[in-house]
Amino acid sequence: MKVLVLYYSQTGQLKEIANKCLSPLIEDAETEVDFVNIETEHQFPFPWTRLTFFNAFPESVYGTPFNLKPIQVDESKEYDLIVLAYTVWYLNPSIPISSLLQHEDAKRIFKGKKVITLLGSRNMWVLAQEKVKRHLKLLEADLIGNVVLIDRNKNLVSIITIVRWMFSGKKNSFWGFPRAGIIQEDIEASNRFGNVILNRIKKNELSDMQDELNELGAVDINPSLLILEKRATKLFGMYAHFLSKKGGFHDKARLGRVSLLSYLLPIGAFVLSPITTVSSYLVSIIQKKSLEEEIRYYKQNSLRD
Ligand SMILES: Cc1cc2nc3c(=O)[nH]c(=O)nc-3n(C[C@H](O)[C@H](O)[C@H](O)COP(=O)(O)O)c2cc1C
Repeated sequence: MKVLVLYYSQTGQLKEIANKCLSPLIEDAETEVDFVNIETEHQFPFPWTRLTFFNAFPESVYGTPFNLKPIQVDESKEYDLIVLAYTVWYLNPSIPISSLLQHEDAKRIFKGKKVITLLGSRNMWVLAQEKVKRHLKLLEADLIGNVVLIDRNKNLVSIITIVRWMFSGKKNSFWGFPRAGIIQEDIEASNRFGNVILNRIKKNELSDMQDELNELGAVDINPSLLILEKRATKLFGMYAHFLSKKGGFHDKARLGRVSLLSYLLPIGAFVLSPITTVSSYLVSIIQKKSLEEEIRYYKQNSLRD
């Protein structure tokens, strides 16, 4: 069996997750696993500066494709499974992955293939996955599984630790705050999903395996965070429009508005978030039934029209 892992990981966290999660396949003598790093020609810096970080906002939100370095997939190999490992930028698939999904080569790479998505993000990824589902459908690929690792710390705590990590490169715990990113034990334990995948490969049953993955906790959706994410998506759309009216990614004319966003987003998160967290919690109680139904949908791989 041949497995292709397409990934983009800026700090290496997602690569570590992919290595751990897929370790049963990597260690299996009869399974060949090829990792291919997806890179844009433009190098997104790490650590980020305030302006470079927020300047990636409109293109992330709109899914604007960037030029990619040659995609090093050996197209003469017939892969049985593709694992698409991605992170989320501003509630959307990261720019390198969204560029991949719109690339000419992707039409050949993905066509007719079974695909498993593997995410490593902070805690808001649900609507990004809907976009990925739509891209995969257009590419005529068959999504058969989804595994999501998130930072399980409280929302505001994880905002503080991730922002410090992104801007300083420091991931360590400080002033009573936990280490940034996905909890190490969660990464270590992710090989249980790889075991399910390998088992299916061995039984030659590579079809939708989401129920089996979900039994092991592959997708966990917090109703209050889902409501927050949906609200934020609407605001992000409006703000992306406001920024891009001043120009494209390389246009200096929009940097004033980018700078404004760099203050507005944290203020929004810290001043409004406690209020919206309470109101989202109340809404999640009032709309319990419809939310439960929605979450059931988001935990599966089907795509609503
Ligand atoms: C510009 C940017 C925006 C991000 N936005 C989100 C987001 O909307 N939701 C989320 O859960 N994580 C978000 N993250 C965190 C990433 O999904 C990811 O966890 C982190 O960047 C580490 O990934 P890596 O493996 O590529 O280093 C963002 C990260 C960056 C750099």
